[in-house]
Amino acid sequence: MIIAIDGPAASGKGTIAKYVAQVYGLHHLDTGLLYRAVGKAMLDAGHLLDDTARAIEAAIALDPKQFDENALKLQSVTEAASVVAAIPEVRQALMSYQRQFAMKTPGAVLDGRDIGTVIAPGADVKLFVVATPEVRAKRRVLELKARGEEADEKEVLADLLRRDERDSRRTAAPLKAAPDAHLLDTTHLGIDAAFRAAVAIIEAARTGRKRR
Ligand code: DC
Repeated sequence: MIIAIDGPAASGKGTIAKYVAQVYGLHHLDTGLLYRAVGKAMLDAGHLLDDTARAIEAAIALDPKQFDENALKLQSVTEAASVVAAIPEVRQALMSYQRQFAMKTPGAVLDGRDIGTVIAPGADVKLFVVATPEVRAKRRVLELKARGEEADEKEVLADLLRRDERDSRRTAAPLKAAPDAHLLDTTHLGIDAAFRAAVAIIEAARTGRKRR
């Protein structure tokens, strides 16, 4: 079984994806980490983010086994990830790893921006997770503070909006819901309610029932 979970930053998709993977005993891939790793490699090497050739080299050279998730989640890497993610050849270089991951037995949950549209268009269940920018900014502030980072809510909101805009407007695999994705709005849902809603959608899809 392949479950595709897409949505904008801090919508809750990552947390939901982890939980769903645990519930169904599936592998989980946070595909944002791949773009973050390319962005971080560019920053570490002192390359300009619009140096497409270097970004493609960095994407080709990635080794997901070496990822340090904490370092990749730092706010300083976030913007760089969004910039390099707009380069079509970078996306191309990361595609086969994601597609192979999706084919693992007994199945996989992948979360990102283009899983339901590009990486796994034939996924068994697709969720598109959304929440208002204000709620997402609040969540991101809590997450950053929990990691010991400084976070100003207004700045975080501005950053989220800028990233949403870039991720949605790019021509290569923009952030958008697949036509057959189930929309899950977590704006007014706590974490447990969001988990329950996600599992209810997946169960309904699995048993072939139509959900309105
Ligand atoms: O999910 P995240 O915030 O860790 O993602 C970081 C950036 O990577 C995000 O701004 C857009 C990009 N991304 C993407 O373009 N496609 C994906 N499947 C996952 C992330």
